[in-house]
Amino acid sequence: RKTAPSAEDIRARKGKTPIVSLTAYTTPMARLMDAHCDFVLVGDSVGMVLHGLPSTLGVTMEMMILHGQAVARGLQLAMMVIDMPFGSYEEGPQQAFRNAARLMAETGAGAVKLEGGVEMADTIRFLVARGIPVMAHIGLTPQSVNTLGGYKVQGRDKQAATVMADARAVADAGAFSVVLEKVPQSLADQITAEVVIPTIGIGASAGCDGQILVVDDMLGFFTAFKAKFVKRYADLGAEAEAAIATYAAEVRTRAFPAAEHVFADQSPNKSAKT
Ligand code: KIV
Ligand code: NA
Repeated sequence: RKTAPSAEDIRARKGKTPIVSLTAYTTPMARLMDAHCDFVLVGDSVGMVLHGLPSTLGVTMEMMILHGQAVARGLQLAMMVIDMPFGSYEEGPQQAFRNAARLMAETGAGAVKLEGGVEMADTIRFLVARGIPVMAHIGLTPQSVNTLGGYKVQGRDKQAATVMADARAVADAGAFSVVLEKVPQSLADQITAEVVIPTIGIGASAGCDGQILVVDDMLGFFTAFKAKFVKRYADLGAEAEAAIATYAAEVRTRAFPAAEHVFADQSPNKSAKT
């Protein structure tokens, strides 16, 4: 993994060409995006996208480590960032360090991401001072869905100052970049102009220093709901279901397996691939 960018390489992209990123949870998906992404996020969205959980709150350290290890096996070129799950860092800097160190040691991730702004600044500072690059995540922070009262746009009207303060706080604390989720476009542009670290938008603005999407959303695999900020670049869920339906019909009519899928009594001669 010598060629993968470091957190400092990502930080240095501020104001340059857009930073490309997606989430991944498995080795094959990581392989598909490795050459196209600057960093790949092992997001705690894995809980909703792959495990059928109702929110990200039930995601555990063990789940993150298992998926992180899988993703790491599929990456050569892209940096890997891993989410700290709900409950693994909020108690304070020392709990956060213990769990962040474990995530990095056991998966090989180059950085962790955690949710929160002003209230997480001390924790970010503590981690960065001890060798753990931190990506911050502000605006809509899904682990706080129960106190936010839903997955709403954050930072409209008077709330804009709060989100701006969060952006400044995480940048001052030493985060190497910050995800802006579901904030008004003009606020995202203002934050991008003001803070010295790259902003990674999701439901934010094309003016951000980079973009991220949940891979299963953009490929059309996760269709339980579609956020406004998701663009479906493919409809693979529908394609997969059609393939499964065809298989089911062919099994029921005995059209599958066909002659080319079954084996003869005699072993094949050397030239034939049967
Ligand atoms: O878990 C996740 O997928 C994320 C991205 C949407 C930023 O945190
Ligand atoms: Na996340």
